[in-house]
Amino acid sequence: MTHSKLFETIKQIKNTHPENLMARHFDEEYFLSLEQNKQQNLLKIIKSGIKNPNSQMGAYAMHANDYEDFAPFFDKLLHDYHNIDANKEISQPSNWDFSNTSCDLKNIDKTLNDVSMRVRVARNPKIFPLTGAMSKNERIEFEKLAANAFQTLAQHKDFGGKYLSLTPNSLHQINEAEYQKRIDSHQMFKDMSNDKYLSVAGISNDWPYGRGIYISRNEDFLVWVGEEDNLRIMAMQIGSNLNALFNRLHNGLEILETLLPAFAISKKYGNITSCPTNLGASMRASLHIKLPNLSKNGTDLSELEREAKSFGLAVRGVGGEHSKAGIDGLVDISPSARLGVSEMQIMQNLYQGIDRLWQLEKQ
Ligand code: ARG
Repeated sequence: MTHSKLFETIKQIKNTHPENLMARHFDEEYFLSLEQNKQQNLLKIIKSGIKNPNSQMGAYAMHANDYEDFAPFFDKLLHDYHNIDANKEISQPSNWDFSNTSCDLKNIDKTLNDVSMRVRVARNPKIFPLTGAMSKNERIEFEKLAANAFQTLAQHKDFGGKYLSLTPNSLHQINEAEYQKRIDSHQMFKDMSNDKYLSVAGISNDWPYGRGIYISRNEDFLVWVGEEDNLRIMAMQIGSNLNALFNRLHNGLEILETLLPAFAISKKYGNITSCPTNLGASMRASLHIKLPNLSKNGTDLSELEREAKSFGLAVRGVGGEHSKAGIDGLVDISPSARLGVSEMQIMQNLYQGIDRLWQLEKQ
C-alpha cells in the first residue's frame, strides 16, 4: 500500500469509526519521520485496527520495547483509553498489599454471597517476542518452559494441579471433548483463530500449537499459555470476598515468578502486554452479577453501559468478550483502567463501582 492510500484509509476509518483509537491518534507526520524499517514495524502494529475498523483500540504491540520505541504513537492511545490526563506522565504503581482495605461484597448486600469472581494478570517473558510476532517454534519452545514450571507447581500444597495442552502430539495433550468441557466451564479459552482482531495481528497464528492451560486441583487458580499474552494468570472463586480472591492470585503469581524466565516489565508502562488496553497492572478483575433492571432483562445494555462507564466500569456478557447478556440480566462487570492504577486500587474500583451500580439497580 502506498503512503497516500494508507493515510486515506486511516482518515476514512477515523470518520466512520470515531471510537477506533488507532485511527483517532494516527499522525502522518510522525509516521513519515520514522526510518523505513520502523514504518514497517508500526504498520504491523496497527494492521488489526485497519482491517477491523470497528476496533476499540486498533493496535497490538509485537515486541516488549514497542511501547518505548513508538511512544509518541502509543502514549496518545494509552492516555485516551486509560483516562490519564494529557499533561500527566504515564507511570505504573504496583501495590499488592490489600491488608488495609476490606472488599467483601456481602457488605454491599448480604445476598451477594455467591458471586462468580475472577481476576487475572498478563505476563510475557522478556526473552521472546510478544505473541503477534512469535514463530511456531518459539510458541512451542515457550510452552515447554511453562510446562516445566508447572511440573514443579503441580507438587505445591496449595497450588498443585495439572497442565493440559492443545499442542498436537505433545506430552500433555487433551482430546477435543476435554477441551470443549473446559470451554463450557469458562476455564479454557476458545479457538483464537476465529477472532478477527487476533488473527489479523498474527496473535492466533499456528493455532493450536503452544497453547494450553494449568488448572489447580480445586480449579480456582489457572494459567493460560499462548493466548493473547504468553501467560494469563488468574484466580477464580464463587463467593464474596475480593481480598481472598486477589491474595490467591498474588500468592500463585509469586511462586510462578520463581519458576519462569523473567517477565517484560517497564518502569513507565508496568507489565508489558500485547494489547495496550491491558498494559500496566495488566489486570482484569471482574464479577458476574444480575442487574435485570439496568439491563432491561439483558435486552438492552445501553443504560447500564452508560452508568457503568461513569463509574469507570465496562460491561460484557458472561460468555466472554463480545458476548451478549443473559435474559436474567446476568452481566460481567470490570474496571476499565489498568494503567496508572495499582492492583489494590483496581480491587477497590471494582468494589466501589459494584456498590454504586447495585444502588442504582435497587432504586
Ligand atoms: N483489538 C480489539 C480492539 O481494538 C480488542 C481490544 C481489547 N480486547 C482485548 N482482548 N485485548 O477492539
